[in-house]
Amino acid sequence: MNNPDVVIVLAAGEGTRMKSSTSKVLHPIAGRSILGHVLAAVEPLGAQELRVVIGAHKDSVQDHLSQIAPAALTVYQAERNGTGHAVQLALAGAATTGTVLVLAGDTPLLTASTLKEFIAVHHANESAASVLTADLPDPFGYGRIVRDDEGAISRIVEERDADEEVAAISEINTGVYLFDNGALREAAAKISKDNSQGELYLTDVIALIKDAGKVALAIRSNDYTETLGINDRSQLAECTAIMRDRINDEVMKSGVTIIDPTTTWIDVGVKIAHDVVIHPGCVLAGSTTVDSGAVIGPRSTLTNVKVGAGARVIESTCSDSEIGAQANVGPYSFLRPGTKLAANSKAGAYVEIKNSTIGEGSKVPHLSYVGDATIGSGTNIGAATIFVNYDGVEKHQTVVGDEVRIGSDTMLVAPVTIGDGAYTAAGSIITEDVPAGSIGVARAKQRNVLGWVLRKRAGSSSAEAAKRAGATERE
Ligand code: UD1
Ligand code: MG
Repeated sequence: MNNPDVVIVLAAGEGTRMKSSTSKVLHPIAGRSILGHVLAAVEPLGAQELRVVIGAHKDSVQDHLSQIAPAALTVYQAERNGTGHAVQLALAGAATTGTVLVLAGDTPLLTASTLKEFIAVHHANESAASVLTADLPDPFGYGRIVRDDEGAISRIVEERDADEEVAAISEINTGVYLFDNGALREAAAKISKDNSQGELYLTDVIALIKDAGKVALAIRSNDYTETLGINDRSQLAECTAIMRDRINDEVMKSGVTIIDPTTTWIDVGVKIAHDVVIHPGCVLAGSTTVDSGAVIGPRSTLTNVKVGAGARVIESTCSDSEIGAQANVGPYSFLRPGTKLAANSKAGAYVEIKNSTIGEGSKVPHLSYVGDATIGSGTNIGAATIFVNYDGVEKHQTVVGDEVRIGSDTMLVAPVTIGDGAYTAAGSIITEDVPAGSIGVARAKQRNVLGWVLRKRAGSSSAEAAKRAGATERE
C-alpha cells in the first residue's frame, strides 16, 4: 500500500506579508480556506494520522480545523524555529514506521492526483526521502534543488544562503516531501541552526539522508502552477484565478455553458447540472445547486441557493433561498434567506423577498417588498405592494391565499390574511383580514375640485392646457 502513514501539514507561520488580522491559511479561495484546499488534496491519500502544526492565530486555526477536519491532530509550535523544528514537534508521539508526507498549509492548488503520482514514484524507486520539485519561470524566494553530476539531488539551498550559481537554478523545492519514517527521524535529530536565518531547516534532512547512504529523490512536477504558495495578496489573487479556471473547466466539461469564464466565479461546493447557461459576471457560492436548463445571469450572485430546472435568474442577488423549476427572478431582485419560490412563479424587477413562500405560478412582478409571508398558488401581487411585516418591535406574518389579486400599491399590514380568490383595491392599506372572494377597499374616496388649476395656477402651462381642453374656472 502506498498510503502515507503520517501526514504533517505545516501551518504555524505568521503570514506576515498578508498584512491581515486573519490567519493566512484561513483566507478563502472559491469557498474553501487555503488550509481546507490542502487538506482536501491530502484526504484521498487515506493516511492513518493527520497532524497539523499550528502557531500564529492558533485559536482560530484550531476552531476551523475542528469544523473541517475533526480527525486532525493539532501540534502547537509556540516558537517558530523553522520548518525542521515544526516537523520535529509533529513527529513526537506519531507513528514510528512507514512513511511521512510533509507539506505546507499554504499551497492550495496541489491536487490529490499529483500527490499520488509523487508517492508512487517514491515507492517505485525505494527512496528514503523524496521532494517534489518544479521548474519556475521566476524561482526567486524558493529553496533551490542542487543536483550532482549524475543528476541526483544532493541538497536544497535556500534563497538567502544561495550563491550566484545556485540562485540561477530554476528547479525549486515545492515544500512537499515523502520520507521513510525512520530515516526522517534520524536526520531530523541532526539538523542545526547553521544558516543565515538561524532556524532549523527541514530541507537540510535531504543531504543528511544522502550522507547516511540512503536514496534521496527530487521528483519534478510537470505543472508548476499546482505548487504555487501564497505569501501575499497578489499571490492570493493569482491562485484564486487559477482555481477559478480549474473549476470552470470542469463545469464546462460536464456540459454547462459559461459565456465568459473570466468573470464567472464558482465555489468548490457548487453543483451545476448539464445545459445550464451562465452569463457573464456571476458568482455561484456556498452550497448552491442549479438544475438542468436553468439560465443564470448576467451579473447574478447566488449564495446557498437551490435553482430548479429551467429557471431564470437575471441581474439578481439571492442567498439561502429556493427558486423553483421554470421560475423567473429579476432583473434586480434581492432574495434574502428563507425565500421559497415554487415552480413557475416570479419575483420580477426591483423585488425584495425574505422568509416567504411564493406558491406555484404566483407572481410578484414589480417593485415590491415581501417579508414573512405565505402566498398561495396562481396569485398576482400588484406593482409596488408592500408587506408591512414590522411594527417597529416585532415581525408579523401575512397569509395570502390562492388566485388572489392584490391591487397595485397595496400595504398589507401584518398580521393579516387575504382569503382565496380575494382582491384588494389599488392603493389600499389593508389592516383587517379580507375573506375569500371579497374585495378589500381601504382608501379615501376620490373628490375632484373642478377648475382648481385655472383659479389657483392661472397662467401656468397646466392651466393653458386645461383651457385648450375646454376646462373653465367654475367649481
Ligand atoms: C520553504 C522551504 C523552501 C521551499 C518553500 C516552498 C525551508 C527551510 N524552506 O521556504 O525550500 O522552496 O518552503 O514554499 O523549509 N512553518 C511552520 N513553523 C515554522 C516555520 C514555518 O509551521 O517554524 C510553516 C509555515 O507556516 C509554512 C511552511 O512551514 O506553511 C513553510 O514555511 P515558510 O516560512 O513559508 O518557508 P519558505 O521560506 O517559504
Ligand atoms: Mg512559504
